[in-house]
Amino acid sequence: MTMDPITLQDYIKIKNEINFHNYRYHVLDDPLVSDYEYDQMLVQLREIEAAHPEWISEDSPSQRSGAAPAEQFRKVSHPAPILSLANAFSKDDIYAWFDRNQKLDERVKNTAFVVEPKIDGLTVVLHYEKNFFTAGVTRGDGLTGEDITANIRTIKSVPLKIPVSGMIQVPETFVVRAEAFINKRDFEEMNARLCKLGEKTYQNPRNTAAGSLRQLDPALVANRPLTILAYSVVSGNQKQTQWETLQYLKSLGFPVSKHATYCKNFNELILQLDKWNDLREEIPYEIDGIVIKIDDLMLAENLGFVGKDPRGAIALKFPAQEVSTQLNDIGVNVGRTGVLTPFAILEPVEVGGVVVKQATLHNFDFIAERDIRIGDRVMIKRAGDVIPYVIGPIVDARKGKEIPYTPPDKCPVCNQEIEKLDGEVAWYCVNSSCPAQLIRNLEHFVSRQAIDIEGLGIKIVEQLVNSGLIRDMADLYALNEEQLIKLEGFADKKAKKIIESIEKSKNSPLNKVINALGIHGIGESASQELAQRYEDINSLRAASIDELMAIEGFGPNMAESITDWFKIEKNNKMIEKLYTFGVRPRPIVHSNPQSDTLSGKRFVVTGTLKRFSRNSIKSYITENGGKVVDSVSTKTDFLVLGENPGSKYEQALKLGIQILSEDDLAEMVVGN
Ligand code: IVH
Repeated sequence: MTMDPITLQDYIKIKNEINFHNYRYHVLDDPLVSDYEYDQMLVQLREIEAAHPEWISEDSPSQRSGAAPAEQFRKVSHPAPILSLANAFSKDDIYAWFDRNQKLDERVKNTAFVVEPKIDGLTVVLHYEKNFFTAGVTRGDGLTGEDITANIRTIKSVPLKIPVSGMIQVPETFVVRAEAFINKRDFEEMNARLCKLGEKTYQNPRNTAAGSLRQLDPALVANRPLTILAYSVVSGNQKQTQWETLQYLKSLGFPVSKHATYCKNFNELILQLDKWNDLREEIPYEIDGIVIKIDDLMLAENLGFVGKDPRGAIALKFPAQEVSTQLNDIGVNVGRTGVLTPFAILEPVEVGGVVVKQATLHNFDFIAERDIRIGDRVMIKRAGDVIPYVIGPIVDARKGKEIPYTPPDKCPVCNQEIEKLDGEVAWYCVNSSCPAQLIRNLEHFVSRQAIDIEGLGIKIVEQLVNSGLIRDMADLYALNEEQLIKLEGFADKKAKKIIESIEKSKNSPLNKVINALGIHGIGESASQELAQRYEDINSLRAASIDELMAIEGFGPNMAESITDWFKIEKNNKMIEKLYTFGVRPRPIVHSNPQSDTLSGKRFVVTGTLKRFSRNSIKSYITENGGKVVDSVSTKTDFLVLGENPGSKYEQALKLGIQILSEDDLAEMVVGN
């Protein structure tokens, strides 16, 4: 049997097919074929190209990383100035910007706006000639940039040919402005990979992206997970509005931010601004603010410039999440499980509107790997709800007096031996009567999410443990007012309140008591799951690993952690003691009026509620058979909406998820 010879048409077909799948994967984030199938197509393409090098065209996927290292970058003039923006730092600044522009041109009063994430990357200018990608240039001084074409080619979300689909006409010369950057997840994965190989890791996505694009060897750039988002047409077919520009770029196959929003007037814009604090954490890449653009591009241009900055758009900068400060010392914390965590004692510094004095250093390996020394100037980061952490030292700022750090060889609290467990990076204090562990355990036990003893903060917890009044968590229930009054800083009233609160907690809901036990890996939501299946601690104690693993979301680690906890004599004694002191957790199973009306349905709750409290709505839903989940996805059945909802509401609208008021929810249950 003879095979038909491969024709040029066959080659073009497979090349287009690969480019299309590349677009589905890297631009739309919605692949149609598996990685394996994609790789097979690439193999086939390379075979054809080896046999017919004369067919290779510039938009072939093989040409993304084909270039040889450059000696240096050539200078290229931009077809139009690549401008930057003036910064605003508050809503008031935005009002002032609007006011100024309104005075210059009264059409501004009724104009629409587009809000886009201000991607923390670097501008790249992409040139297309007769639909083919011909050059990629840095911003440089705004008039001339550096030719980094070979590097830009390696970025898979950059179309090598436009349009990817459809019949849209583009001018012969077409120049687009985009931001190049690295997604947070890709950055973490890259670092994890490097760490595994024992190689040096990178400090942050922005600097890594910037450094990568200035690499002379494109083969190295190809290994970095760079991507782009496009946001304006520099030269070619200019659209009348920014919103149209984004749609147009998208239709040509450029990746465009999914988070850009259209605001039909200034009022809508102001309302939109409040949502960005929450959105910031959801966006898969780092942003350092938002860009507000007057939608009507002619009007924007007519407003002219202040200095070099166009008046028609402004960057509203978020407070910095990363700052540098002096590392004064390194302390070591002993956690609930005895794990030793080093933390940085810093020269106080403001990050994101909060003064930070301490930051985590993760573990001792991290300090060694980053070569963090006492006295170093270090970069720290505080993002969203994450505890501030040290990114690494600024090596260039060293003065030579910095002192390398030696981890302790004894527990800093009880001075007993410490151990490293197999396969873990952490060091542990294995002394089960180490006061530090008891303090942490008790702190957790009395916290809001657990037994919830109002007024019993860390200071008192420390006093109770250090004075010997409490040797295990159950001792809490043996305390009396007289004992408390003797402690420093205690007045009658305070002591009375705490004892009352302790008394009341004897009937805490079972889920809270399970959470309070501090079983490794068993937090609030796992405790809730357990409390729905077991009516008391004894039946939980009797559960087998297999039985526990059958619970949705419970893996072998969680199941084993529970059975291991109940194997420890001391823990069982503590449970018995709790019982003798009259602690009777309130079961959730088979309690309260119950139904299975909401059975199999997943709920997300957002906004401030009127009828229910946060906890009561959760129990209401679960007691009636439903499930409460934290984030909106296609699997969510209902969103219960309170006042001033966050971004979950928008996501639910986008996904077409049914929205319920609190009353609707109650009606679903009662009306049935
Ligand atoms: S518009 C005149 N839009 O932020 C148009 N810039 O100073 C100016 N940036 O240098 C740029 N995301 O590197 C624009 N969606 C976005 C952006 C964005 C990030 C960067 C860009 C620029 C700086 C603003």
